[in-house]
Amino acid sequence: MSVRVEGLTKAFGPLRAIDDLSVGFQTGKISVLLGASGCGKTTTLRCIAGLERPNSGSIKIDDDTVFNSDRGVDVLPEKRRLGMVFQSYAVWPHLTVAGNVAMPLRAQKLAKTEIQKRVRDTLGIVGLSDQAEKSAMKLSGGQQQRVSIARCLVGNPRLILMDEPLSNLDARLRVEMRHEIRQLQQRIGATILFVTHDQEEAMSLGDEIFLFNKGKVVQKGPPEDLYFRPTARYVAEFLGKANLFRVAIRPNNDGASVAALPSGEIISQGRMANASSQRDALCMVRPESWRVTKGTGSGLSANVQEVTFVGDRRELRVDTPIGPQLVVTYGYERFAVNDQLSLSIAPEQVHLFDSEV
Ligand SMILES: Nc1ncnc2c1ncn2[C@@H]1O[C@H](COP(=O)(O)OP(=O)(O)OP(=O)(O)O)[C@@H](O)[C@H]1O
Ligand SMILES: [Mg+2]
Repeated sequence: MSVRVEGLTKAFGPLRAIDDLSVGFQTGKISVLLGASGCGKTTTLRCIAGLERPNSGSIKIDDDTVFNSDRGVDVLPEKRRLGMVFQSYAVWPHLTVAGNVAMPLRAQKLAKTEIQKRVRDTLGIVGLSDQAEKSAMKLSGGQQQRVSIARCLVGNPRLILMDEPLSNLDARLRVEMRHEIRQLQQRIGATILFVTHDQEEAMSLGDEIFLFNKGKVVQKGPPEDLYFRPTARYVAEFLGKANLFRVAIRPNNDGASVAALPSGEIISQGRMANASSQRDALCMVRPESWRVTKGTGSGLSANVQEVTFVGDRRELRVDTPIGPQLVVTYGYERFAVNDQLSLSIAPEQVHLFDSEV
Protein backbone atom coordinates (compact mmCIF):
# COMPACT_ATOMS: atom_id res chain seq x y z
CA MET A 1 0.00 0.00 0.00
CA SER A 2 1.60 3.20 -1.08
CA VAL A 3 -0.54 5.86 0.56
CA ARG A 4 -2.28 5.21 3.87
CA VAL A 5 -4.62 7.76 5.38
CA GLU A 6 -5.81 7.02 8.90
CA GLY A 7 -8.54 8.81 10.84
CA LEU A 8 -8.09 12.00 8.86
CA THR A 9 -10.29 14.96 9.71
CA LYS A 10 -10.14 18.45 8.25
CA ALA A 11 -12.66 21.02 9.38
CA PHE A 12 -13.29 24.50 8.05
CA GLY A 13 -15.16 26.15 10.93
CA PRO A 14 -18.14 23.94 11.72
CA LEU A 15 -17.87 22.06 8.41
CA ARG A 16 -16.03 18.75 8.29
CA ALA A 17 -14.67 18.69 4.75
CA ILE A 18 -12.97 15.37 5.58
CA ASP A 19 -14.64 13.32 8.26
CA ASP A 20 -12.54 10.64 9.98
CA LEU A 21 -11.32 9.21 6.70
CA SER A 22 -9.33 5.97 6.69
CA VAL A 23 -8.32 4.71 3.29
CA GLY A 24 -5.40 3.20 1.37
CA PHE A 25 -4.28 3.78 -2.21
CA GLN A 26 -2.23 1.15 -4.02
CA THR A 27 1.24 1.53 -5.52
CA GLY A 28 1.50 1.53 -9.31
CA LYS A 29 -2.23 2.06 -9.82
CA ILE A 30 -4.61 4.85 -10.70
CA SER A 31 -6.94 5.54 -7.80
CA VAL A 32 -9.81 7.80 -8.71
CA LEU A 33 -11.43 10.02 -6.10
CA LEU A 34 -14.95 10.56 -7.38
CA GLY A 35 -17.85 12.47 -5.91
CA ALA A 36 -20.22 15.41 -6.11
CA SER A 37 -19.01 18.98 -5.75
CA GLY A 38 -17.95 19.81 -2.21
CA CYS A 39 -17.55 16.21 -0.98
CA GLY A 40 -13.90 16.72 -0.01
CA LYS A 41 -11.85 15.40 -2.95
CA THR A 42 -9.59 18.41 -3.36
CA THR A 43 -9.18 18.81 0.39
CA THR A 44 -8.04 15.17 0.62
CA LEU A 45 -5.40 15.72 -2.09
CA ARG A 46 -4.26 18.97 -0.49
CA CYS A 47 -3.83 17.26 2.88
CA ILE A 48 -1.76 14.50 1.27
CA ALA A 49 0.31 17.13 -0.52
CA GLY A 50 0.86 19.07 2.70
CA LEU A 51 -0.92 22.18 1.40
CA GLU A 52 -3.62 21.85 4.01
CA ARG A 53 -3.06 20.95 7.65
CA PRO A 54 -5.55 18.33 8.90
CA ASN A 55 -7.07 18.65 12.38
CA SER A 56 -6.26 15.07 13.22
CA GLY A 57 -5.17 11.74 11.79
CA SER A 58 -2.12 10.48 9.97
CA ILE A 59 -0.82 10.16 6.39
CA LYS A 60 1.84 7.70 5.36
CA ILE A 61 3.49 7.53 1.93
CA ASP A 62 5.28 4.21 1.54
CA ASP A 63 7.03 3.83 4.89
CA ASP A 64 7.28 7.54 5.44
CA THR A 65 4.94 9.24 7.87
CA VAL A 66 4.39 12.69 6.36
CA PHE A 67 1.68 13.74 8.81
CA ASN A 68 0.71 12.54 12.25
CA SER A 69 -1.27 14.80 14.57
CA ASP A 70 -0.51 12.73 17.69
CA ARG A 71 3.24 12.73 17.13
CA GLY A 72 3.37 16.27 15.77
CA VAL A 73 4.79 15.17 12.41
CA ASP A 74 4.10 17.52 9.49
CA VAL A 75 6.59 17.18 6.63
CA LEU A 76 6.90 20.22 4.35
CA PRO A 77 5.18 19.89 0.95
CA GLU A 78 8.46 20.13 -0.99
CA LYS A 79 9.92 17.32 1.12
CA ARG A 80 7.06 14.90 0.37
CA ARG A 81 8.33 14.08 -3.15
CA LEU A 82 5.01 14.44 -4.90
CA GLY A 83 4.00 15.76 -8.27
CA MET A 84 0.79 17.69 -8.79
CA VAL A 85 -1.25 18.51 -11.87
CA PHE A 86 -4.21 20.84 -11.58
CA GLN A 87 -7.18 21.86 -13.65
CA SER A 88 -5.49 25.07 -14.75
CA TYR A 89 -2.35 24.09 -16.63
CA ALA A 90 -0.33 26.95 -15.16
CA VAL A 91 2.29 26.84 -17.89
CA TRP A 92 4.53 29.88 -18.16
CA PRO A 93 3.58 31.49 -21.48
CA HIS A 94 6.85 33.39 -21.92
CA LEU A 95 8.95 30.21 -21.66
CA THR A 96 9.51 27.48 -24.20
CA VAL A 97 8.11 24.00 -23.65
CA ALA A 98 11.54 22.79 -22.51
CA GLY A 99 11.93 25.87 -20.30
CA ASN A 100 8.64 25.09 -18.55
CA VAL A 101 9.60 21.50 -17.89
CA ALA A 102 13.05 22.52 -16.64
CA MET A 103 11.63 24.90 -13.99
CA PRO A 104 11.44 22.49 -11.05
CA LEU A 105 14.95 21.18 -11.78
CA ARG A 106 16.39 24.70 -11.98
CA ALA A 107 14.84 25.38 -8.62
CA GLN A 108 16.77 22.36 -7.31
CA LYS A 109 19.95 23.86 -8.84
CA LEU A 110 20.88 20.73 -10.77
CA ALA A 111 23.73 20.79 -13.32
CA LYS A 112 22.78 22.09 -16.75
CA THR A 113 23.59 18.88 -18.62
CA GLU A 114 21.59 16.83 -16.11
CA ILE A 115 18.63 19.20 -16.54
CA GLN A 116 18.82 18.97 -20.33
CA LYS A 117 18.89 15.19 -20.27
CA ARG A 118 15.96 14.85 -17.90
CA VAL A 119 13.87 17.41 -19.79
CA ARG A 120 14.56 15.60 -23.05
CA ASP A 121 13.63 12.22 -21.58
CA THR A 122 10.45 13.55 -20.01
CA LEU A 123 9.30 15.35 -23.15
CA GLY A 124 9.75 12.01 -24.93
CA ILE A 125 7.47 10.31 -22.40
CA VAL A 126 4.63 12.78 -22.96
CA GLY A 127 5.17 12.91 -26.75
CA LEU A 128 6.34 16.52 -26.97
CA SER A 129 9.94 16.00 -28.15
CA ASP A 130 9.39 17.88 -31.38
CA GLN A 131 7.83 20.86 -29.59
CA ALA A 132 10.66 21.47 -27.11
CA GLU A 133 11.74 24.85 -28.42
CA LYS A 134 8.27 26.14 -29.18
CA SER A 135 6.79 28.91 -27.06
CA ALA A 136 4.36 27.39 -24.56
CA MET A 137 1.86 30.08 -25.50
CA LYS A 138 1.50 28.60 -28.98
CA LEU A 139 0.38 25.17 -27.80
CA SER A 140 -3.14 23.74 -27.86
CA GLY A 141 -4.96 23.06 -24.60
CA GLY A 142 -4.09 19.38 -24.72
CA GLN A 143 -0.43 20.10 -25.40
CA GLN A 144 -0.31 22.60 -22.54
CA GLN A 145 -1.76 19.99 -20.25
CA ARG A 146 0.96 17.58 -21.37
CA VAL A 147 3.56 20.22 -20.52
CA SER A 148 2.17 20.42 -17.00
CA ILE A 149 2.23 16.62 -16.75
CA ALA A 150 5.85 16.61 -17.95
CA ARG A 151 6.72 19.30 -15.41
CA CYS A 152 5.25 17.08 -12.73
CA LEU A 153 7.06 13.92 -13.94
CA VAL A 154 10.47 15.52 -14.37
CA GLY A 155 11.05 15.67 -10.62
CA ASN A 156 10.61 11.89 -10.49
CA PRO A 157 7.83 11.96 -7.88
CA ARG A 158 6.91 8.81 -5.98
CA LEU A 159 3.27 9.86 -6.09
CA ILE A 160 1.32 11.96 -8.60
CA LEU A 161 -1.75 13.92 -7.55
CA MET A 162 -4.08 15.09 -10.31
CA ASP A 163 -7.03 17.35 -9.52
CA GLU A 164 -9.50 17.44 -12.42
CA PRO A 165 -6.65 17.88 -14.91
CA LEU A 166 -8.88 17.38 -17.95
CA SER A 167 -11.91 19.49 -17.13
CA ASN A 168 -10.75 22.52 -19.12
CA LEU A 169 -10.40 20.50 -22.31
CA ASP A 170 -13.11 19.96 -24.90
CA ALA A 171 -14.96 16.64 -24.93
CA ARG A 172 -12.91 14.91 -27.61
CA LEU A 173 -9.57 15.95 -26.23
CA ARG A 174 -10.60 14.82 -22.76
CA VAL A 175 -11.18 11.30 -24.02
CA GLU A 176 -7.88 11.34 -25.91
CA MET A 177 -5.96 12.59 -22.86
CA ARG A 178 -7.57 9.86 -20.74
CA HIS A 179 -5.89 7.28 -22.97
CA GLU A 180 -2.62 9.13 -22.80
CA ILE A 181 -2.64 9.28 -19.04
CA ARG A 182 -3.53 5.58 -18.84
CA GLN A 183 -0.71 4.61 -21.23
CA LEU A 184 1.77 6.89 -19.56
CA GLN A 185 0.91 5.42 -16.17
CA GLN A 186 1.41 1.90 -17.46
CA ARG A 187 4.70 2.77 -19.11
CA ILE A 188 6.29 4.33 -16.06
CA GLY A 189 4.34 2.39 -13.41
CA ALA A 190 3.37 5.58 -11.60
CA THR A 191 1.08 5.78 -8.60
CA ILE A 192 -1.63 8.31 -9.37
CA LEU A 193 -4.44 9.79 -7.29
CA PHE A 194 -6.84 11.29 -9.79
CA VAL A 195 -9.74 13.53 -8.79
CA THR A 196 -12.79 13.91 -11.00
CA HIS A 197 -16.52 14.33 -10.71
CA ASP A 198 -17.07 12.80 -14.15
CA GLN A 199 -18.27 9.22 -13.72
CA GLU A 200 -17.24 8.09 -17.19
CA GLU A 201 -13.75 9.46 -16.71
CA ALA A 202 -13.60 7.71 -13.34
CA MET A 203 -14.65 4.34 -14.74
CA SER A 204 -12.38 4.44 -17.78
CA LEU A 205 -9.29 5.59 -15.87
CA GLY A 206 -9.50 4.04 -12.45
CA ASP A 207 -8.01 0.75 -11.33
CA GLU A 208 -9.99 1.53 -8.22
CA ILE A 209 -12.66 4.15 -7.62
CA PHE A 210 -13.21 5.78 -4.23
CA LEU A 211 -16.67 7.31 -4.18
CA PHE A 212 -16.83 10.19 -1.71
CA ASN A 213 -19.82 11.69 0.00
CA LYS A 214 -19.62 14.35 2.72
CA GLY A 215 -15.98 13.81 3.52
CA LYS A 216 -16.18 10.02 3.69
CA VAL A 217 -15.66 7.17 1.25
CA VAL A 218 -19.01 5.46 0.64
CA GLN A 219 -17.59 2.60 -1.45
CA LYS A 220 -14.26 1.70 -3.00
CA GLY A 221 -13.36 -0.94 -5.54
CA PRO A 222 -12.80 -1.66 -9.22
CA PRO A 223 -15.21 0.25 -11.50
CA GLU A 224 -17.27 -2.83 -12.34
CA ASP A 225 -17.86 -3.57 -8.66
CA LEU A 226 -19.22 -0.11 -8.02
CA TYR A 227 -21.36 -0.21 -11.14
CA PHE A 228 -22.82 -3.69 -10.81
CA ARG A 229 -22.52 -4.29 -7.08
CA PRO A 230 -23.12 -0.97 -5.34
CA THR A 231 -23.37 -1.33 -1.58
CA ALA A 232 -25.61 1.67 -1.15
CA ARG A 233 -28.34 3.39 -3.04
CA TYR A 234 -26.19 6.52 -3.22
CA VAL A 235 -23.55 4.62 -5.19
CA ALA A 236 -26.12 3.07 -7.53
CA GLU A 237 -27.55 6.46 -8.36
CA PHE A 238 -24.25 8.32 -8.61
CA LEU A 239 -22.57 5.88 -10.98
CA GLY A 240 -24.66 5.31 -14.08
CA LYS A 241 -28.44 5.23 -14.17
CA ALA A 242 -30.44 3.03 -11.87
CA ASN A 243 -34.06 1.84 -11.81
CA LEU A 244 -35.02 1.22 -8.18
CA PHE A 245 -38.17 -0.43 -6.88
CA ARG A 246 -39.34 -2.79 -4.17
CA VAL A 247 -39.65 -6.53 -4.70
CA ALA A 248 -40.61 -9.52 -2.60
CA ILE A 249 -38.09 -12.36 -2.70
CA ARG A 250 -39.19 -15.91 -2.02
CA PRO A 251 -37.53 -19.27 -2.60
CA ASN A 252 -38.84 -21.50 -5.39
CA ASN A 253 -38.78 -25.31 -5.47
CA ASP A 254 -35.19 -25.88 -6.55
CA GLY A 255 -33.53 -23.57 -4.07
CA ALA A 256 -33.36 -20.55 -6.33
CA SER A 257 -35.24 -17.29 -5.81
CA VAL A 258 -38.19 -15.57 -7.32
CA ALA A 259 -38.43 -11.80 -7.39
CA ALA A 260 -42.00 -10.60 -7.49
CA LEU A 261 -43.48 -7.15 -7.58
CA PRO A 262 -45.98 -6.08 -4.95
CA SER A 263 -48.68 -6.71 -7.57
CA GLY A 264 -47.56 -10.35 -7.87
CA GLU A 265 -45.92 -10.19 -11.28
CA ILE A 266 -42.70 -12.16 -11.42
CA ILE A 267 -39.87 -10.21 -12.98
CA SER A 268 -37.03 -12.67 -12.48
CA GLN A 269 -36.26 -16.09 -11.15
CA GLY A 270 -33.04 -18.03 -10.64
CA ARG A 271 -29.93 -17.60 -8.56
CA MET A 272 -29.57 -14.03 -7.42
CA ALA A 273 -26.23 -13.03 -5.99
CA ASN A 274 -27.41 -11.54 -2.73
CA ALA A 275 -31.01 -12.73 -2.33
CA SER A 276 -30.17 -14.88 0.77
CA SER A 277 -33.06 -14.81 3.18
CA GLN A 278 -34.56 -11.54 2.21
CA ARG A 279 -38.32 -11.35 2.01
CA ASP A 280 -38.60 -7.80 0.93
CA ALA A 281 -35.86 -5.80 -0.70
CA LEU A 282 -34.98 -2.77 -2.73
CA CYS A 283 -34.11 -3.93 -6.23
CA MET A 284 -31.83 -2.15 -8.67
CA VAL A 285 -31.91 -2.80 -12.40
CA ARG A 286 -29.53 -1.03 -14.78
CA PRO A 287 -31.35 0.32 -17.89
CA GLU A 288 -29.41 -1.99 -20.21
CA SER A 289 -30.27 -5.03 -18.08
CA TRP A 290 -33.97 -5.04 -18.88
CA ARG A 291 -34.91 -7.77 -21.37
CA VAL A 292 -37.51 -6.35 -23.69
CA THR A 293 -40.23 -8.31 -25.49
CA LYS A 294 -42.75 -6.55 -27.69
CA GLY A 295 -46.42 -7.09 -26.92
CA THR A 296 -47.88 -8.46 -23.73
CA GLY A 297 -46.01 -11.18 -21.85
CA SER A 298 -45.46 -12.64 -18.41
CA GLY A 299 -43.09 -9.87 -17.27
CA LEU A 300 -43.64 -6.32 -16.20
CA SER A 301 -45.97 -4.59 -18.62
CA ALA A 302 -44.64 -1.32 -19.96
CA ASN A 303 -45.87 1.40 -22.24
CA VAL A 304 -43.35 3.45 -24.22
CA GLN A 305 -43.56 7.17 -23.46
CA GLU A 306 -40.45 8.46 -25.19
CA VAL A 307 -37.78 7.07 -27.52
CA THR A 308 -34.34 8.65 -27.86
CA PHE A 309 -31.95 7.36 -30.49
CA VAL A 310 -28.32 7.90 -29.39
CA GLY A 311 -26.42 6.15 -32.17
CA ASP A 312 -25.23 2.92 -30.57
CA ARG A 313 -28.35 2.53 -28.43
CA ARG A 314 -31.92 3.59 -27.87
CA GLU A 315 -33.14 5.01 -24.58
CA LEU A 316 -36.78 4.32 -23.83
CA ARG A 317 -38.75 5.99 -21.08
CA VAL A 318 -41.58 3.65 -20.22
CA ASP A 319 -44.51 3.68 -17.84
CA THR A 320 -45.11 0.59 -15.73
CA PRO A 321 -47.33 -0.33 -12.78
CA ILE A 322 -44.31 0.30 -10.52
CA GLY A 323 -43.64 3.71 -11.99
CA PRO A 324 -41.48 5.07 -14.80
CA GLN A 325 -38.45 3.01 -15.85
CA LEU A 326 -35.50 3.75 -18.08
CA VAL A 327 -34.69 1.04 -20.62
CA VAL A 328 -31.69 0.97 -22.95
CA THR A 329 -31.67 -1.28 -26.00
CA TYR A 330 -28.87 -2.05 -28.44
CA GLY A 331 -29.31 -3.42 -31.95
CA TYR A 332 -31.68 -2.61 -34.76
CA GLU A 333 -35.12 -3.14 -33.31
CA ARG A 334 -37.17 0.04 -33.45
CA PHE A 335 -39.64 1.30 -30.90
CA ALA A 336 -42.38 3.90 -31.06
CA VAL A 337 -44.34 5.88 -28.49
CA ASN A 338 -47.25 3.81 -27.14
CA ASP A 339 -45.65 0.46 -28.00
CA GLN A 340 -46.64 -2.17 -25.47
CA LEU A 341 -43.68 -4.10 -23.97
CA SER A 342 -43.03 -6.83 -21.45
CA LEU A 343 -39.91 -6.44 -19.30
CA SER A 344 -37.99 -9.11 -17.44
CA ILE A 345 -34.49 -9.48 -16.08
CA ALA A 346 -31.88 -12.24 -15.82
CA PRO A 347 -31.46 -13.28 -12.17
CA GLU A 348 -27.72 -12.55 -12.15
CA GLN A 349 -28.48 -8.97 -13.10
CA VAL A 350 -30.88 -8.38 -10.26
CA HIS A 351 -29.14 -6.38 -7.57
CA LEU A 352 -30.77 -6.29 -4.14
CA PHE A 353 -30.07 -3.90 -1.30
CA ASP A 354 -30.29 -5.09 2.28
CA SER A 355 -32.45 -2.23 3.29
CA GLU A 356 -33.59 1.18 2.20
CA VAL A 357 -30.07 2.62 2.22
N1 LIG B 1 -10.21 27.02 2.44
C1 LIG B 1 -11.47 26.70 2.72
N2 LIG B 1 -12.19 27.41 3.61
C2 LIG B 1 -13.47 27.07 3.93
N3 LIG B 1 -14.12 26.02 3.40
C3 LIG B 1 -13.46 25.28 2.51
C4 LIG B 1 -12.11 25.56 2.12
N4 LIG B 1 -11.71 24.63 1.21
C5 LIG B 1 -12.76 23.81 1.04
N5 LIG B 1 -13.81 24.17 1.81
C6 LIG B 1 -15.10 23.49 1.91
O1 LIG B 1 -14.86 22.12 2.15
C7 LIG B 1 -15.75 21.29 1.43
C8 LIG B 1 -14.95 20.34 0.56
O2 LIG B 1 -14.29 21.10 -0.46
P1 LIG B 1 -13.43 20.44 -1.60
O3 LIG B 1 -12.81 21.55 -2.36
O4 LIG B 1 -12.52 19.44 -1.00
O5 LIG B 1 -14.54 19.71 -2.46
P2 LIG B 1 -14.39 18.94 -3.85
O6 LIG B 1 -14.90 17.57 -3.61
O7 LIG B 1 -13.01 19.09 -4.38
O8 LIG B 1 -15.45 19.71 -4.77
P3 LIG B 1 -15.37 20.15 -6.32
O9 LIG B 1 -15.79 18.94 -7.12
O10 LIG B 1 -16.37 21.24 -6.42
O11 LIG B 1 -13.97 20.59 -6.64
C9 LIG B 1 -16.65 22.24 0.66
O12 LIG B 1 -17.84 22.40 1.35
C10 LIG B 1 -15.87 23.53 0.60
O13 LIG B 1 -16.71 24.63 0.54
MG1 LIG C 1 -12.21 20.04 -6.07
